[in-house]
Amino acid sequence: MRRKLAAGNWKMNGTSADLAQIEALAQAHSSALSEILIAPPTPLLHRASQVAKSKAITIGAQDCHKRERGAHTGDVSAEMLLDAGASYVILGHSERRADHDEHDEDVRAKARAALAAGLRVIICLGEELEEREADNTLDIIGGQLAGSIPDDISSDSLVVAYEPIWAIGTGKVPSIAQIGEVHDFIRARLEKRFGHATAKAIRLLYGGSVKPANAAEIFAVENVDGALVGGASLKAEDFSPIIAALDES
Ligand code: PGA
Repeated sequence: MRRKLAAGNWKMNGTSADLAQIEALAQAHSSALSEILIAPPTPLLHRASQVAKSKAITIGAQDCHKRERGAHTGDVSAEMLLDAGASYVILGHSERRADHDEHDEDVRAKARAALAAGLRVIICLGEELEEREADNTLDIIGGQLAGSIPDDISSDSLVVAYEPIWAIGTGKVPSIAQIGEVHDFIRARLEKRFGHATAKAIRLLYGGSVKPANAAEIFAVENVDGALVGGASLKAEDFSPIIAALDES
């Protein structure tokens, strides 16, 4: 059985005052069936992990460098994230791909570094609106999957997030059939590459404008094992009903 995962990506939002949101979530969901993950900005990682300690929340980072250490001013290594209390790192988010010109091979190298350090990775895949309209979605996702996911993963260390770029922060969501099609496709590709037993245990998240109002419908889709949530993860009062919907799915 795959344990459901509700992952909140705070992006470049949040200061010390927002640690109270993690505290509130921990209190509200101390007996959640789902795994709950918050990925705050890097400066909050350590304190977030202190707040979450021995509570129901796991802490993740939003990026890491592909090298272990060295002359890379401003960058942070996977080992540093682990040391700060993270147990996951989100990699290949479309905002990183766009803002920092990250390509599949960069994402793969970062994933290898993260896995070597002992972090779990959430690797993001997603198509542009023009690619969807041109009926190229599965080709794009297949290419990103082949290029971004390293060979040496285990079902425990890898989570894949399908995040259509045009659905991120826009309030637009693909149809239930479109989400199902892509998730089935990702599962099939993972099966081909890693074998049935491994592929069936890897968690697949949907991300892009997940809100309390649409969460239950999305979580009912086969092969959706949770969500990667941006805007609606910033406040416990918004994220909480999404976690509850996942628990009930
Ligand atoms: P959103 O972001 O929920 O604000 O659309 C999702 C994401 O980028 O992970």
